Amino acid sequence: MSAAAPSGPGAEVPLLELRGVTAGYGRIQVLHGVDLVVPRGEVVALLGPNGAGKTTTLLVATGQHPVSSGCVHVAGRHVNGVRAEELARLGLCTIPEGRGVFRSLTVRENLRMASYRGVDESLLVERAVARFPRLGERLGQVAGTLSGGEQQMLAMARGLATDPALLIIDELSMGLAPLIVAELYELVAGIAREGVSILVVEQFARTVLGVADRAVIMQHGQVVAAGVPADLEAELSAAYLGASP
Ligand SMILES: Nc1ncnc2c1ncn2[C@@H]1O[C@H](COP(=O)(O)OP(=O)(O)OP(=O)(O)O)[C@@H](O)[C@H]1O
Ligand SMILES: [Mg+2]
Repeated sequence: MSAAAPSGPGAEVPLLELRGVTAGYGRIQVLHGVDLVVPRGEVVALLGPNGAGKTTTLLVATGQHPVSSGCVHVAGRHVNGVRAEELARLGLCTIPEGRGVFRSLTVRENLRMASYRGVDESLLVERAVARFPRLGERLGQVAGTLSGGEQQMLAMARGLATDPALLIIDELSMGLAPLIVAELYELVAGIAREGVSILVVEQFARTVLGVADRAVIMQHGQVVAAGVPADLEAELSAAYLGASP
């Protein structure tokens, strides 16, 4: 959703841009020239089958894995080799595969630890509960005992506590029932309407495409199609993307 895109100089500079990125593990090349753009205020879905290179692309984009060639730009700045912590300060926030919550800490403690910019704790909890009411009923509950959907809400609340420009979510729907996935994507759409750009990885396309402004399909370490969801019907119905949710 592009409602909150700012105007004026620099507005057209994408928040994130990968150009011809190659990367690998040891001697095995995994990304073979990936081009990817996340414009300000948009939701971009990164789709593709197991092993396509989606997670690696996110790791490279967030400074957690080195680029072999090509370049990564964040808000127009060339950031190859810049550390993940510095990219976080530039407004990138990642929710990793598996959500990255502290399972033995309570919801409240998880939220408290997310705030490294000195945001007042009670304000932070208030904001998280306003956005995710289900967390409000569970502030004292240990995160490891939350349902998968609630853990994803907590992960998002933690990510948003840093006030990011771009929220990057790997496998939002992993292990969750379709109804919960639909609920989470409604929340994602709401976050995007507030002006936060979102790059979300999914293996199964259907639900995310209801809220995505554009989609990028990866296969074998390359982008095989990119555009607005409506223009990607043929590619999306290809068997390798699977059907529901
Ligand atoms: N740490 C690693 N060491 C060696 N190879 C790796 C490593 N991580 C990933 N790979 C390989 O890189 C390729 C791309 O993996 P990646 O995790 O980026 O794919 P993905 O699209 O996120 O897949 P999935 O949908 O299963 O999460 C795969 O062939 C994988 O085996
Ligand atoms: Mg992955």
